[in-house]
Amino acid sequence: WSHAALSVVVVGASGDLARKKIYPSLFALYYEGHLPEHFHIYGYARSKMSDTEFREYISGSLTCRLSEKDKCGDKMEMFLQRCLYHAGQYANKSDFATLSERMAGTEQDRQRANRIFYLSIPPSIFTDVAACASEAASSVSGWNRVIVEKPFGRDLASFQELSSELSKSLSEDQMYRIDHYLGKELIENLTVLRFANLVFEPLWSRQYIRNVQVIFSEDFGTEGRGGYFDQYGIIRDVIQNHLLQIVSLFAMEAPVSLDAEDIRNEKVKVLRSMRALSMDDVVIGQYRGRKTKSTKLPGYLDDKTVPPDSLCPTFASVALFINNARWDGVPFLLKAGKALASRRAEIRVQFRHVPGNLFRNRLGLDLDRATNELVIRIQPDEAIYLKINNKIPGLGLNLDVTKLDLTYRDRFEGHLPDAYERLILDVVNGDKRLFIRNDELDAAWRLFTPILKEIEEKKVVPELYPYGSRGPVGSHYLAAKHGVRWGDNL
Ligand code: BG6
Repeated sequence: WSHAALSVVVVGASGDLARKKIYPSLFALYYEGHLPEHFHIYGYARSKMSDTEFREYISGSLTCRLSEKDKCGDKMEMFLQRCLYHAGQYANKSDFATLSERMAGTEQDRQRANRIFYLSIPPSIFTDVAACASEAASSVSGWNRVIVEKPFGRDLASFQELSSELSKSLSEDQMYRIDHYLGKELIENLTVLRFANLVFEPLWSRQYIRNVQVIFSEDFGTEGRGGYFDQYGIIRDVIQNHLLQIVSLFAMEAPVSLDAEDIRNEKVKVLRSMRALSMDDVVIGQYRGRKTKSTKLPGYLDDKTVPPDSLCPTFASVALFINNARWDGVPFLLKAGKALASRRAEIRVQFRHVPGNLFRNRLGLDLDRATNELVIRIQPDEAIYLKINNKIPGLGLNLDVTKLDLTYRDRFEGHLPDAYERLILDVVNGDKRLFIRNDELDAAWRLFTPILKEIEEKKVVPELYPYGSRGPVGSHYLAAKHGVRWGDNL
C-alpha cells in the first residue's frame, strides 16, 4: 500500500473530536513514518474556510512529543502542507463530487488511491454522509473505508434503524466502528496477558475469581458538553460501550486465532450470555455542586446547556452476570461517573480466599483484604499489579499485603501511543481486531435498552453526590449485596 495514495477525509472537520484527537493522531503517525508517502488530509465541513485557515486551526492542536523540537517543527510544516479544506453540505452529493475531484488531483500520479472517511459528526447525519460519500466520492482504483464514532443509536430500535440505513451505502467490510477504549495500550494487552502467560488463564474463571470490577471515574463534570451528554447519560456514554467492551474481552473464551472475526465471535458470545438486567442491578447518581474554601464546583444542573430539571445520570453502577460455565455466579461490577474524586480507569480482579489458610491468624482480622487482587490500571499511570501476601522481612512470621508491580513508566521507555493513533493506523492497515462488529452492538443494546427505558419512563431520580466525592452511597450497597467491596476505595 505504500505505493498507493491515501486520502483521509475528516467529515466534521471543525469539531472538538477532530481537533483534539484526529489531527494530532494523524500527525503522530505521519511523524513516525506510519503513513504512506503519498497522503493527504481533507477537512470537510459546512463553514467556509481556506486551506491556510484550516492549517492554522489544526496547528494549534499539534504538539511535538519528541525532544528534537526543530525537526518536529519542520515535519509539522510538511504535515500541514498536506492538509486541505473543502466546504460542503453534509447531505449534498454534488459537494462530495467536487471533493472527489479535488482528491483525484492530489492522487493522480498513483495507480491506486485509497480513501478513508472519518465521520466525526452527530449520528443524525451519519446516513446522509455515508450515502453521499459512497455514491459521489468513492475511489474506484482502491479501497474505501469509513470510520464511525459512537453514539451508535440510543437504544436497540434506533441502533437497528441506523445500522440498516448505513448498510444501504456501506458494506460491513468497509465500516470501522470505533470504541476508543479498545485502542488503549492496556486493553490491547489484555489478550496477551491472558493467552500468552500460563499463570493467569487457568485461574480465569468462577473457580478462582470472586468478582471483577471495571471502574471508570473522571474528576471533572460535563463542562459545556451537557447538551450532548443530557441526551445520552453515563450508561450510554461510557458503560454500554467502553466498559462492556472491556468485560467482553476480559471474559471471552480463547479465540481460534487472533483474526478479527475469531476474536469478535468470542466477544459477542459473552455479550449474548449476559443475564438480563433489572433495576435491582443498577444504581444511578447525579453530581451536585459543592463549595470548597476557594471555589464553587458546579453541579450538573448548573451547566447552562442542561435542562434545569434533568434526571440524567452522570454516575451509574451496574452488576452484571454472565450465564456460562466459566463465569456462572461471578459478579462483574461496573462503575462509571463524572465529577468524582479522581480520574482513573481500571479493572480489578478479586480472587477467592485461600481454602483453610494456614496463616489466617497472622493475617489480622481482615481476611477479605488478604485475598489476591490483580489490578490492570488502564489510565493514568498505566500498570498491572498483583496484590500478594508476603512475609514481612525479618525475624518472626508476620504477613502483609504487598504488590508484584509492573508500572509502565518505570519499566518501559518512550511514550504510549494515543488510542486514536493505534486505531487510525489499524484502519489504514485494514485490521479490524479492535473495531466493533454490528452483532456486538446489537447484543449490547439488547442488554441495556430495557433498563434505560425503565429509568426514563419511571423517571427514576438519581441519587445526588457531591462534586469530587466517591459517588452515591447506593453504589456501595449494590456491591455489598453481592458480597463485594469496591477495590478502589480501600
Ligand atoms: C468518551 C465519552 O467516549 O470517553 C466521554 O463520551 C469521556 O464522556 C471519554 O470523557 C473518556 O475518554 P478518555 O480516553 O479520556 O478516558
